[in-house]
Amino acid sequence: MHDSQIPHEAVVISRTQESRSIFSIGLQFTDEELNKQYRFQPGQFNMLYVFGIGEVPISIVSDPQGSDEFIHTIRTVGRVTQILEQLQPGDRLGIRGPFGRGWPLQTLQHRDILVVTGGLGCAPSVSIINYIMLRREQFGRLAIVQGVKHSEDLIWHDHYQQWMQQPDTQVLLAADVATHGWPWHIGLVTELLPQVELDISQAATMLCGPEMMMHATAQMLLESKAKADQIWLSMERNMQCAVGLCGHCQFGPDFVCRDGPVFNYADVQHRLSRRGL
Ligand SMILES: Cc1cc2nc3c(=O)[nH]c(=O)nc-3n(C[C@H](O)[C@H](O)[C@H](O)COP(=O)(O)OP(=O)(O)OC[C@H]3O[C@@H](n4cnc5c(N)ncnc54)[C@H](O)[C@@H]3O)c2cc1C
Ligand code: FES
Repeated sequence: MHDSQIPHEAVVISRTQESRSIFSIGLQFTDEELNKQYRFQPGQFNMLYVFGIGEVPISIVSDPQGSDEFIHTIRTVGRVTQILEQLQPGDRLGIRGPFGRGWPLQTLQHRDILVVTGGLGCAPSVSIINYIMLRREQFGRLAIVQGVKHSEDLIWHDHYQQWMQQPDTQVLLAADVATHGWPWHIGLVTELLPQVELDISQAATMLCGPEMMMHATAQMLLESKAKADQIWLSMERNMQCAVGLCGHCQFGPDFVCRDGPVFNYADVQHRLSRRGL
């Protein structure tokens, strides 16, 4: 991208309502040349700018070599996301990005991969799963472990059903609270880890979700002989510049926008459980 500080105009190509408060939008730049040049890695994010309202960091969930449009899945929480929710095909917004360091998938070929996701923070992990599914022969076995607070929070039911049918793929789902008929585990996502069929001590693990959940999961994995430097996690912080200048996303000595959002657990484990960092 030409200038990381200037938003470039993009147009909404497609829109999907995933659940009551989550939607996806597919975008394209209005500048043809920019569309051709635009490249990103799974786990990177864009800054989405609603003209006159504000800007928010949002992960890119589509495949880097997928179609012409890039896709964002967004939960409506406040000022900017409420306006983004109203956008329809043909509407325009500004995009800066891609930013940050993504998942190290290119270095993990032929490895077994464990993906553990908690809460609604599933968007960055979907980019991992999509990436592996489209390059299945390049990876070993895949275990997907997803936990949600309430069974009604689970989106992408079709995706999970589809992933369950794939060879060498295990999908485990949990909800802290479930409505009648929820066929999967009721309880915490960490309670599913003993059911994972991979050799956790040899697998590469990627975590996504609330910090406490990621920390608790990593601790359990270490007890199962996982190596700290074979665990990665995606962090969230409020952001403004997205290029390591303003300090809004400070995380100890790092800036989440520039040095993350994906970090190696070995580098950050002592910071994760400390309040205020
Ligand atoms: C690298 C990165 C990737 C992200 N990817 C996604 C994604 O794919 N999909 C998605 O729905 N959201 C994602 N987020 C979170 C998203 O950026 C926030 O939900 C958004 O900024 C809220 O803006 P708002 O103006 O709608 O809400 P506001 O009115 O700003 O805030 C509403 C509430 O959310 C809190 N909040 C705002 N930003 C954050 C944040 N970054 N982390 C934690 N709490 C926050 C505020 O403190 C407030 O309580 C990501 C954040 C980061 C840092
Ligand atoms: S958002 Fe400004 S330093 Fe990260």
